[in-house]
Amino acid sequence: MRGISWCVFVILGTLGVSACTGGKGDAGDKGEQGPVGTPGPQGPQGDAGATPDVGLLDAAGPTGCTAPCHGFGNVVDQWKFSKHYIESTIAADEPGWTGSGACGGCHAIDGIPRRLAGTVGVAADAGVAPVDVPKGHLNYVNATGGLTEIGYSGPGTVAVIHCTTCHDFNPGNDPHNTGKYIPGSAPLRVPAGAADFSMIEKTPSDAGVDGSTATLSPTGVSAGNFKQGNTCVMCHKSRKDVTFYITGANKMNSAYWGPHEGPQADVYSGKGGYHFPGQAYGNSVHTTIASACVSCHMQPVASNMGVPDHSMHPALAYCVTCHTTYTGTNFDVQGGQSIVRATLKELEAALNAKGLLTRGSAAPYPALTALQLADGNFEQDKVRPGSNPDGTDQVLDSLTAGVVYNYLIIARSKDFGVHNPTYAKQLLWDSIKQLTGANPKSLPARPS
Ligand code: HEC
Ligand code: HEC
Ligand code: HEC
Ligand code: HEC
Ligand code: HEC
Repeated sequence: MRGISWCVFVILGTLGVSACTGGKGDAGDKGEQGPVGTPGPQGPQGDAGATPDVGLLDAAGPTGCTAPCHGFGNVVDQWKFSKHYIESTIAADEPGWTGSGACGGCHAIDGIPRRLAGTVGVAADAGVAPVDVPKGHLNYVNATGGLTEIGYSGPGTVAVIHCTTCHDFNPGNDPHNTGKYIPGSAPLRVPAGAADFSMIEKTPSDAGVDGSTATLSPTGVSAGNFKQGNTCVMCHKSRKDVTFYITGANKMNSAYWGPHEGPQADVYSGKGGYHFPGQAYGNSVHTTIASACVSCHMQPVASNMGVPDHSMHPALAYCVTCHTTYTGTNFDVQGGQSIVRATLKELEAALNAKGLLTRGSAAPYPALTALQLADGNFEQDKVRPGSNPDGTDQVLDSLTAGVVYNYLIIARSKDFGVHNPTYAKQLLWDSIKQLTGANPKSLPARPS
């Protein structure tokens, strides 16, 4: 048994280190140096210096392989149940992100360290990179006056979000190297202090392309800062600066129009949607939760040395620390998700009636079928190119394009309003009113 778990260690450790430093998976062979260490376990009888190896191979104790990482259901298993791991298994089917485009900044194993170090690609057309790249900002004005995203300049060709993407494991703290896990030895790369902040793309005014702090305070220094949640904001955002993205005439000519998958930070921050003129937008108490995303999605697991849950699945046990009277077994607290589902459905039907939605992946893109309208998989909806009766693309004014944008960010956040119930409902309410001229049936009054 010991031999087996030790082998697993070497392979995993090798993957992490090789992909981080060399980028090429083949460098993993260097990890075979591990077996050279095998004499370690034989030595302890007479050699005190071998003690760390004994610790590493002692599968039973808290300083062994199993806790908190390699035991059944512990961190490595949790991570394997998360889509951060699944990302790597589907990578072969999703090669489209590779190269110098923006994609590797979030999909490559070393995307985060590179962005933090500022080693990113800036377009050859002499654009000026944004100043807040280490805080996650992506967009900048290129030489022709358009908006461009910073590019990925690393060697990665496999999409994977690994331990070393988020954590600064190095020879000094890597348990495969030190021989044991010491609590706190997995520091995050993205700063998580009370004064640290992360950014979404939306610029508050059109005076410059400088994005917004994801936290409540415009300067980023605020009791509402996201702390460990800053890590998540680096990737889980729309990638679009909606202040500039939506113009007076928006051509619906691409199924990729709109926010990228996973615009959770745009919704959670209460800032990233299209704001209709004359409307005020508010926030839920949820935006003040201590470590933001991490508090809900990564609760400490008491049976695993208190290390946070890396499955990234929100913990209902945490919700009920505030929602003390809630006895349900899902996240539909106070029926809030049901309301948002119903409102999304109403908006989806209204947009589809105008020919604007599809799930097709090639022309001619069909409008949503009755079955698709009924299935509630809102996050699968895309903008429908060629949706005029004569097959040309619709050109939408800013208000109507704003409706489409808001639908997509709420649908693609996949939380049915939980992240920021107040803001999500306000965006949906305004969008239905804008598109249909009538108050939503599913949400008679605009939440304040
Ligand atoms: C998507 C980002 C992300 C990935 C991927 C990730 N972690 Fe974490 N991890 C976190 C966050 C956030 C915390 C909470 C940090 C805190 O509380 O300071 C954490 C906490 C930890 C801790 C406890 C804190 C400490 O310093 O001891 C350990 C151990 C840990 N992670 C190990 C791993 C291992 C092993 C992997 C790969 C199997 C992994 N993590 C993958 C984000 C990540
Ligand atoms: C390096 C970029 C990156 C970071 C940092 C990151 N994520 Fe992710 N996350 C992704 C990607 C990409 C996916 C989708 C993978 C897929 O679908 O193949 C994902 C998937 C997820 C999912 C599952 C979504 C689903 O569709 O089931 C959750 C939940 C999640 N992340 C939460 C978090 C949290 C919480 C943090 C912060 C601790 C975080 N992520 C940090 C990139 C990132
Ligand atoms: C700002 C970070 C970021 C950038 C840049 C980025 N993505 Fe993503 N991408 C994400 C996140 C986060 C998710 C998953 C969110 C979720 O599931 O909620 C995702 C999901 C996806 C998915 C669907 C899930 C999957 O893995 O099959 C595809 C496909 C994808 N991205 C492709 C791309 C391509 C192609 C590019 C470059 C043109 C790109 N992404 C750039 C963050 C990013
Ligand atoms: C810090 C305390 C706190 C935590 C933790 C918390 N909530 Fe809430 N939640 C609130 C408060 C207060 C409200 C009502 C006012 C508001 O939204 O600001 C609310 C509102 C909601 C709503 C909207 C209800 C409606 O009437 O539409 C939903 C849904 C919800 N919470 C779900 C959750 C879920 C799911 C979790 C855990 C993943 C959670 N909450 C964790 C305090 C909390
Ligand atoms: C109030 C607690 C709470 C906070 C704070 C929170 N989330 Fe969530 N999140 C949830 C809940 C609950 C869901 C819905 C899960 C479900 O229905 O299965 C969800 C859904 C998601 C999903 C889609 C998961 C899936 O399986 O489809 C992603 C990705 C995600 N959140 C990322 C984030 C990020 C990134 C942040 C911070 C910017 C964040 N969350 C903040 C509670 C929270």
